[in-house]
Amino acid sequence: TILILDFGSQYSHLIARRLRELHVYAEMLPCTQKIAELPFKPKGVIFSGGPYSVYDDFAPHVDPAVFELDVPILGICYGMQELAWLNGRGVSAGIEREYGPAMVNITTESKSEVFQKFFESMPKEFEVWMSHGDKLNALPTGFESIGQTKNSPYAIIAHSSKAIFGIQFHPEVTHTPLGLQLIKNFALAICEAKPSWSMENFVDKEILRIRKMIGPEDHVIGAVSGGVDSTVAAKVLKEAIGDRFHAIMVDNGLLRLNEAEIVRENLKEHLGIRLTVIDASDEFLQKLSGVSDPEKKRKIIGNTFIHVFEREADRILKTTSGKVEYLLQGTLYPDVIESISFKGPSQTIKTHHNVGGLLEDMKLKLIEPLRELFKDEVRSLGELLGIERSLVWRHPFPGPGLGIRILGEVNRTQLEIARKADHIFITEIRNHGYYDKISQAFAALLPVKAVGVMGDQRTHEQVIALRAITTSDFMTADWFDGFSVKFLKLVSSRICNEVAGVNRVLYDISSKPPATVEME
Ligand code: XMP
Repeated sequence: TILILDFGSQYSHLIARRLRELHVYAEMLPCTQKIAELPFKPKGVIFSGGPYSVYDDFAPHVDPAVFELDVPILGICYGMQELAWLNGRGVSAGIEREYGPAMVNITTESKSEVFQKFFESMPKEFEVWMSHGDKLNALPTGFESIGQTKNSPYAIIAHSSKAIFGIQFHPEVTHTPLGLQLIKNFALAICEAKPSWSMENFVDKEILRIRKMIGPEDHVIGAVSGGVDSTVAAKVLKEAIGDRFHAIMVDNGLLRLNEAEIVRENLKEHLGIRLTVIDASDEFLQKLSGVSDPEKKRKIIGNTFIHVFEREADRILKTTSGKVEYLLQGTLYPDVIESISFKGPSQTIKTHHNVGGLLEDMKLKLIEPLRELFKDEVRSLGELLGIERSLVWRHPFPGPGLGIRILGEVNRTQLEIARKADHIFITEIRNHGYYDKISQAFAALLPVKAVGVMGDQRTHEQVIALRAITTSDFMTADWFDGFSVKFLKLVSSRICNEVAGVNRVLYDISSKPPATVEME
């Protein structure tokens, strides 16, 4: 295991991601972790970057005992300045922020075996990505400079006799093309970590762990949505404990066309998962009646979900002979990192979670089989477990569903219009081979009426907005600019002709920010 001590950089999770690509197991902990309380002995330690200045009063620092572990250490950006800070000197505010590409020259003439391992398969000069304000103005005690850029005489530093390295740039981002090689050299050649992490091993171990955790008579419940995370999590539980896992799907009446049926077919027929679908659409729509404020709608949908789920779970709890102590959640690694990573005084913690609030009331413990995985790994696991490709690669669909894609008040008439329009758009996206090029697409129904003409008649009807975006992490997004004019004409004419109540179709050309992906 490689230990990553996180100083809160936006890139920290990428370090774990890169190590995983090398099949090396890594754990990320906050930089303030007490070394004596580490739950494992790492083969090496990486200090991440971070948004602070080491000389600030409130700047975070590592437990100095980390140096007594006597394992190789790599400091990245802030992590390098932290090395310098703890070793006597030399950090100052840069005159200007350095952000963007730079060329590094390796300048060590040292024949040291450790240095050679660090630079194995690296050319003398390579491109890197810089993103920092502070820089070293002198070498810390015992260190030498082994790489320079035009602006940084200390772009890479190394301890003269111990395996401790500091780099000013970010090897974990793809803008440093040979960054993965550097991380590989550090983890495999210098730390001698074993590249033994594989999805097959992972899932076998996880299934055994779950079997041990759940008593032989006991049951587990979990909510499924039809999305990839909850489906893969449910399939893992099915493999581990068979019919003692109960999946519950709440049909909130805000699903897409035939959605409940499709989920039933996938989970029950194809994957053999024990599934109960509850039609609670009346309950949801009643509570939404007359409500048009987006936040109020979200709250109502979230609370009603919890209420319905608990009621159904209670019913199942009463009919099973064994105990039900666990609730399945499809938590992924980025959520875990989000909650453990180091938070300074200026940062807020994300609070929203789909089924947050369930636990306090139900007194259930969490079981999270995907908590070590990134999204794309969940997809490979899904394929490994025999889940259909089209489901594994499905676009995400938000919990509040069409409730936040029908702007303003939601009712059955509006739902019918939104459903039909969305179905036409997505069907044509699939037919024209666009689906895999887009991260998410949908049709939204705007809360306005516009004038049109049909035959000799003036019409006064509703407006559909099409949205399609591309993104790597949904934090920012671009509108998709790859549709052909012919495609847009076809979708527009199909929607106006086939969906009663619509006479106009718009295409949303807003990126995030300033817009969001969803319209409410
Ligand atoms: P926004 O609109 O915030 O969307 O730019 C980013 C991503 O998050 C999804 N989303 C949600 N997912 N519950 C969910 O499960 C929600 O309340 C929710 N709101 C937005 C959205 O579909 C997009 O993928």
